[in-house]
Amino acid sequence: MASSSSSTFITLALFLSLCVSSAKSTAKFDELFQPYWAPDHFTFDGEAVNMKLDNFSGAGFSSKSKYMFGRVNIQIKLVKGDSAGTVTAFYMSSEGSKHHEFDFEFLGNTTGEPYLVQTNVYVNGVGNREQRLNLWFDPAADFHSYSILWNQRQVVFMVDETPIRVHTNLEHKGIPFPNDQAMGVYSSIWNADDWATQGGLVKTDWTHAPFVATYKAFEIDGCECPVTTADSDNAKRCASTGGWWDQPVLSELNVHQNHQLIWVRANHMIYDYCSDTARFPSVPEECEHHRH
Ligand SMILES: *[C@@H]1O[C@H](CO)[C@@H](O)[C@H](O)[C@H]1NC(C)=O
Ligand SMILES: *[C@@H]1O[C@H](CO)[C@@H](O)[C@H](O)[C@H]1NC(C)=O
Repeated sequence: MASSSSSTFITLALFLSLCVSSAKSTAKFDELFQPYWAPDHFTFDGEAVNMKLDNFSGAGFSSKSKYMFGRVNIQIKLVKGDSAGTVTAFYMSSEGSKHHEFDFEFLGNTTGEPYLVQTNVYVNGVGNREQRLNLWFDPAADFHSYSILWNQRQVVFMVDETPIRVHTNLEHKGIPFPNDQAMGVYSSIWNADDWATQGGLVKTDWTHAPFVATYKAFEIDGCECPVTTADSDNAKRCASTGGWWDQPVLSELNVHQNHQLIWVRANHMIYDYCSDTARFPSVPEECEHHRH
């Protein structure tokens, strides 16, 4: 009896959470996510989820739902010791050849050498907007929070609440902005020793496998989009729900956050596609308008 009434309750709770357009959730991994690649490369340890890369496979998880606007936050402790050749990614993405994508990619390194964090933004299937930074802490020593805030004015990448990148809506200048496709939330770890560490010079040392990244404190607070609903209907609904993410105060960084971003760019940024004139002889359109 007890088990059937609790399963009725779970079914009801699931049904209710699907109906609420903005469902706050600090729930555990299982409620929000599922392994989509190599479920046998996951281990669960209390509130922590470990995902490993070994000589046989990488691994990945994805959100059960898709979202349009809101905020995703996960705490990650990256692969310790020798992580050269490995990439751990945390990202949001829609589907199809014209998809949008917001990426954090953590590029591993040999023991004692710093990780690099690469961010990228894809709009309508086109990326090539890489930025790279080193961090002001060792991301393998402890958990740190990585978040993406997405509303109709901007996409903000944050590390421990410090903004490291802002992608501003410049539709009024004729520049497309990702605001019309529902996105899933993903993380994966894989072998990328053809490019990741020192441009691919340093290969993965498999004698140090398995390479384990650990996750906890999973949070998604956004406008949930049923897969059965068309993107255009989701966009209409999610743009008009008046979600917390559309408060005017979140339409741009505040003064303090602006100072933080300037500090990050001055002290930790080592690559910005906007200043890569060898690669882009004419500066990409949005760079001329994005605040630096
Ligand atoms: C790895 O460490 C080297 C030496 O400090 C550094 O040049 C490089 O940028 C680091 N990161 C990657 C991903 O290669
Ligand atoms: C990893 O796999 C490759 C090819 O499958 C094999 O040659 C190599 O010996 C393996 N290394 C280890 C450490 O298991």
